[in-house]
Amino acid sequence: MKDEVRVTIKSDVDVVAARQEGRALAAHLGFSTGDLALIATAISEVARNIVNYAKQGEIILKVAEKDGRYGIVVVARDQGPGIADVARAMQDGHSTSGGLGLGLPGSKRVMDDFDIVSEVDKGTTVTMKKWAR
Ligand SMILES: Nc1ncnc2c1ncn2[C@@H]1O[C@H](COP(=O)(O)OP(=O)(O)OP(=O)(O)O)[C@@H](O)[C@H]1O
Ligand SMILES: [Mg+2]
Repeated sequence: MKDEVRVTIKSDVDVVAARQEGRALAAHLGFSTGDLALIATAISEVARNIVNYAKQGEIILKVAEKDGRYGIVVVARDQGPGIADVARAMQDGHSTSGGLGLGLPGSKRVMDDFDIVSEVDKGTTVTMKKWAR
């Protein structure tokens, strides 16, 4: 298995592909079944945000290793409109599209590390990491 996978995200089928690739990589790293579901869901959410708000972008899946422990790194990157108020976007229930507004905060909760950098008219990069137990 390669230790880095890139999935171009343009449509719903790409969201499913990213989810499956992420799940497969995480399974290879020894994550529990419950964690696999959480990781797959978080990948779906950030990938879906790319389709919904930025039209296109990419998901990069990588292996992290520290002191003999393995983790998965998920980077979701786009050059879309960006987010004017990132703190607000991270609050439960905030949505500019009539969604539930749970995608970003929910993903943050289920991963160990979550970082979002966004600039209006430049784009958005979400980087999240989870360690296998
Ligand atoms: N990649 C992105 N580019 C631009 N704006 C984004 C991006 N991702 C999220 N946003 C903004 O942040 C808000 C919150 O995102 P979040 O995923 O938490 O909720 P949502 O997509 O509105 O609803 P859902 O619960 O269905 O995911 C979005 O409504 C949108 O305004
Ligand atoms: Mg969303």
